[in-house]
Amino acid sequence: MLIDNHGRPINYLRLAVTDRCNLRCFYCMPEEGIQYLPKPHLLSYEEMIRLVTILAEMGISKVRITGGEPFLRRDIMPFLWKLSEIEGINKINITTNGVLTAPLVPELKKLGVNSVNLSLDSLDRQRFYEITRRDEFPKVWETLETLLAHDIPVKINTVVMSGKNDEDILSMVELARDQNVSVRFIEEMPFNGAGLRPDQIQNFWSYGRIMDLIRSAYPEIYRLQDEPNSTSYNYQIPNFKGSIGVIAAFSRTFCGTCNRLRVTPTGVFKTCLYDDGVFNIRDMMRQKLSDDEIKLLISEALQSRALDGFEAERNRKNLVSESMTTIGG
Ligand code: GTP
Ligand code: 5AD
Ligand code: SF4
Repeated sequence: MLIDNHGRPINYLRLAVTDRCNLRCFYCMPEEGIQYLPKPHLLSYEEMIRLVTILAEMGISKVRITGGEPFLRRDIMPFLWKLSEIEGINKINITTNGVLTAPLVPELKKLGVNSVNLSLDSLDRQRFYEITRRDEFPKVWETLETLLAHDIPVKINTVVMSGKNDEDILSMVELARDQNVSVRFIEEMPFNGAGLRPDQIQNFWSYGRIMDLIRSAYPEIYRLQDEPNSTSYNYQIPNFKGSIGVIAAFSRTFCGTCNRLRVTPTGVFKTCLYDDGVFNIRDMMRQKLSDDEIKLLISEALQSRALDGFEAERNRKNLVSESMTTIGG
């Protein structure tokens, strides 16, 4: 079992397999896209399997595949099969925008994917288009229906943005009435707004404000007991099949129980979403370090982990704003 310098057990790896995306959500990417990384800069599948095997031996048991959009990486399915065979990895979860996912759902079910987090910011086709700059709502909806039909647990991630999808909050809540989904609202993280507090952002949809709105429509809503290490505060509305959650991502309220490591598509190893990265796994592997040498460096990195995202941000040398597509969320 891996334990960091603040006594937090670490058992969760977020592995970003690509920086590419087929949407252009305005809070994440400019309209023209970003300069994508050349393939040799990316961790290869072999390197990723080696990394996960090493981490599994050290005590990681859950892997979340993120991106960019993971299903854009060529041959991702054979990679997922190999991942599912690694001893000690008992949970494979995927975060996807759902554009390419629907036809792959039966295979995901077969290989034992435990749950899928689907990014979906609006149920209105026009607003979806305005947020993502792509008219792909029907495909994402099909993915949601297919996942539910295959009994794969789904969490919907909705970033709440003032003036963009405020009107969607209550209709997203309604999704949980008849479907067994967890609808999670996320505070928007302004990646270029370093140092800002929620009260300094105009019309910010904070956890409290989101809950006030939901409570005004569903006064009988009540708090659920959250799973350990949950990023969301979870709620139930009586007689709803699914549940409602809020992720106070910008307020970073869950750092105290943070159990996660991150590896970016180029192999940067991060112990916090907000740090610069501790070292590069890809370079270590290409310099032919042994598994034991890599393990030692990882163990050491965990002994100087920031207490929370605020500390990690203060320690950064590189203040260039990043986006989720290059970090992996
Ligand atoms: P599960 O708990 O495994 O369902 O997933 P998750 O909530 O960790 O992952 P998901 O990829 O669905 O991310 C949901 C949102 O939480 C995204 O906006 C993430 O960027 C944000 N998030 C995830 N981990 C962290 C974290 O460690 N710190 C912060 N500030 N935000 C995070
Ligand atoms: N603030 C909050 N959430 C974000 N995501 C991407 N960028 C941001 C941001 N700036 C979310 C996506 C996806 C998850 C992995 O991260 O919507 O659901
Ligand atoms: Fe994880 Fe960093 Fe956020 Fe803490 S601040 S929960 S370590 S990303």
